[in-house]
Amino acid sequence: MTTVKVENLTKKYGEIVALDKVSFEIKDKEYLAIIGPSGCGKTTLIKCMSGIQSPTGGDIYFDGKPVKDLPLEERGIGYVFQEIALFPHMNVWDNVTYGPRVKGWPGDRAAKVARELFELIRLSVREREYPSSLSGGARQKIGIARALASGSDLLFLDEPLGSLDAKVRTELRYEIQNIIRDLGLTAVHITHDQEEAMSVADRIAVMKAGRIVEIDEPSKLYSNPETLFVSNFVGEANFLEGIVTKVTDDTCLVESQGLSLSSTEKSKREGEKIVVAIRPDFVSMEKRVNNGEGFAGYIENQDFEGSTIRYEVVLKDHRLFTIRLPQILGGLAFNIGDEVNLSVKPEHVLIYPYPEVGVQKELALA
Ligand SMILES: Nc1ncnc2c1ncn2[C@@H]1O[C@H](COP(=O)(O)OP(=O)(O)OP(=O)(O)O)[C@@H](O)[C@H]1O
Ligand SMILES: [Mg+2]
Repeated sequence: MTTVKVENLTKKYGEIVALDKVSFEIKDKEYLAIIGPSGCGKTTLIKCMSGIQSPTGGDIYFDGKPVKDLPLEERGIGYVFQEIALFPHMNVWDNVTYGPRVKGWPGDRAAKVARELFELIRLSVREREYPSSLSGGARQKIGIARALASGSDLLFLDEPLGSLDAKVRTELRYEIQNIIRDLGLTAVHITHDQEEAMSVADRIAVMKAGRIVEIDEPSKLYSNPETLFVSNFVGEANFLEGIVTKVTDDTCLVESQGLSLSSTEKSKREGEKIVVAIRPDFVSMEKRVNNGEGFAGYIENQDFEGSTIRYEVVLKDHRLFTIRLPQILGGLAFNIGDEVNLSVKPEHVLIYPYPEVGVQKELALA
């Protein structure tokens, strides 16, 4: 069993505050993804958790035991680095059995573990090959096998798939997930790829400037994020500034530059200045017949994305609104220039207090 508890973890590099009182817990066998803009402190966080860096303050517990003062090799973790870090002068077999050998395991025990791992990662390369002759995907699999060879229940992955091409990434993503499930590991996985985080993780922590701004299940982060920052950073959103005009028991009404929207969001005050966020895939669009329901506009642009089409619709007041619809078999349902009506269900109208620093600054990635 492996649980993790991080309390007020802080790391300063001179003036730079790379981690600012970060606190969270990870359950046994949980798969946590960490996402956030470049430089927000993701790598620093797992380097401090693993013992590669010493934090400036705060505490870390594995299974309830403090580990902050233990060196890396005594924390019992597997670590797959951001930079591919196999030993180039060792063949695949020696790379994977390196940890057990350093720990002084008998040769047959190290070999047994390595054999099991080779089977688990379904590796089709020869054990005597050197890293330089392998594909990027195979190298990262060996990196994972090497990280797990010493038998740790806690695996840290820092952008393990970052340098691979899209197809291999997607395949490996599910293989890693299976390995983690099969071995019952507790995992922390840093990635830049939100789709990857959404599809493999039990929960996602979103970081910004050294802090965790939100930590939740992927579906919740996507459909109902608590912060304006996350509504923008995870997925895509249309933002409208407005005022709450009416609050009832289960809905509130918002006016935004001539548009009236109803939202199921609670605890808003009449007269409050707010920002509305609406995901492009939670908007429905119909060709306009007479005046129709919803807000009116015309299609200015359409981008083919594969399984979806992204439309840009110009509203009456010249604002641009983005909509994403599934591709329809047999051709496009809409054309550029079509007059349309857009509508959004109240549960998809997300409302946030107007940020003190202004919308642009609040949404900025650095
Ligand atoms: N060894 C170091 N010395 C000084 N500053 C550092 C050091 N390592 C990281 N930093 C700074 O700490 C902050 C957090 O860096 P970190 O590498 O943890 O970010 P990250 O979220 O992993 O970024 P990326 O997504 O680019 O990998 C950045 O401002 C970075 O420049
Ligand atoms: Mg990093």
